[in-house]
Amino acid sequence: MTDDKTKTPNEASAMWGGRFEAGPDAVMEAINASIDFDRRLYAHDIAASQAHARMLAAEGIIAEADAKAIVDGLDVIKGEIEAGTFAFSRALEDIHMNVEARLTEVIGEAAGRLHTARSRNDQVAVDFKLWVRDALDALDGDMRALQAALLDQAEAHAASVMPGFTHLQSAQPVTLGHHLMAYVEMIGRDRSRAADCRKRLNESPLGAAALAGTSFPIDREATASALGFDRPAANSMDAVSDRDFALEFLAFASILAVHLSRLAEEYVIWCSAQFGYARLGDAFSTGSSIMPQKRNPDAAELVRGKAGRVIGALNGLLIVMKGMPMTYGKDMQEDKEPVFEAAETLELSLAAMTGMLGDTDFDTKRMAADAAKGFATATDLADWLVRVLGMPFRQAHHVTGALVKLAEDKGCGLDGLSLDDMQGIEAGITAEILDVLSAEKSVASRTSLGGTAPASVAAAVAEARKRFLD
Ligand code: ARG
Repeated sequence: MTDDKTKTPNEASAMWGGRFEAGPDAVMEAINASIDFDRRLYAHDIAASQAHARMLAAEGIIAEADAKAIVDGLDVIKGEIEAGTFAFSRALEDIHMNVEARLTEVIGEAAGRLHTARSRNDQVAVDFKLWVRDALDALDGDMRALQAALLDQAEAHAASVMPGFTHLQSAQPVTLGHHLMAYVEMIGRDRSRAADCRKRLNESPLGAAALAGTSFPIDREATASALGFDRPAANSMDAVSDRDFALEFLAFASILAVHLSRLAEEYVIWCSAQFGYARLGDAFSTGSSIMPQKRNPDAAELVRGKAGRVIGALNGLLIVMKGMPMTYGKDMQEDKEPVFEAAETLELSLAAMTGMLGDTDFDTKRMAADAAKGFATATDLADWLVRVLGMPFRQAHHVTGALVKLAEDKGCGLDGLSLDDMQGIEAGITAEILDVLSAEKSVASRTSLGGTAPASVAAAVAEARKRFLD
């Protein structure tokens, strides 16, 4: 705050202080002011004020000339804020009073008519909803871009065999494309949660005034539709005290952050020397100041770490809201910073994950070699015993266990056992079984709906492109 010297210390009270004799203590001003962060609402505050002024004139509540002066003056102020010449004042508390005070300087007395039939309570609710709505739209674009990057890699690797894990233990072979497509679905659900949040928030609080509505003959339908809302919020008390939209935004944001963190964690694992499945390009790697050999996936680690902030934001706001009696309380001024921070964090995290995906070389040889390790085709062997020999699955499981133990004792994989070895355990086994023991054969056989067979993955990529990107 650099510009306070141009304002009198008693300015905020000039906006509401008819009955006050002294200005606020400096500490009072410091705890009360939100202008340092809510200035981000300026464009939405101005748009909502312009809609309100136009409606007041249309209903004959203020003169047409005053409404025009207000609308034009607000455009001037918007220009000043965007040019960086606007003198924000902490003494004026928040964006609403900063703008209104400046409007008085710009157009004079008519500015005083803008706040007719309105309160900062409905004003802040409408501004904040408009901001969250824009943030949801922007994040939807970012999520879509991440899906596109995942789909490109999934398509390129529809047939690249890798180990599929449960408990981070080799379970069954899958393809990398199939693995990445799991994230396309996760982000798809995030997008649908965002859309759902947007739909539910899209009711206008404007005209609820302080809490009880107003005696002026306002047209709430008109301001709602001017601002792109579906309808006015039905209950004035709910309208000024509702912050569900911020909580839902943060809930959606937290789940998205968890998804990004899981993908980031995979990157950290895959980029380790021990796994060596992925190599990030120079643009998304960092070195160590002491260990020259290092190539660290810092961006992935930060995406994983930043999920903590987003989840913290949801927790924080839930705790702010849980003790709020009807209707507005100043506690609710604490709603904005967590939402701003979560939105900013996710925008950056999504861009980082999208960038990393485009800058990754997967070591398909290494993944394929690993896919064959750890007796990953044991289930295929058991399935063969069921299918070809008609064995009950439980018995097949038992026989396969004995074959795994034999391979373990011999220090080889299942495909390293000779036919004699196998027939020693189950006489019915024939040479045909060798066909199902490789990782490639295993994945190729998983043709069930939603399964990992390369042809199914290629088809899933095409279907998902239509569902998510068209
Ligand atoms: N800066 C306030 C907020 O963010 C605006 C609403 C103030 N309302 C009031 N009755 N003091 O919540």
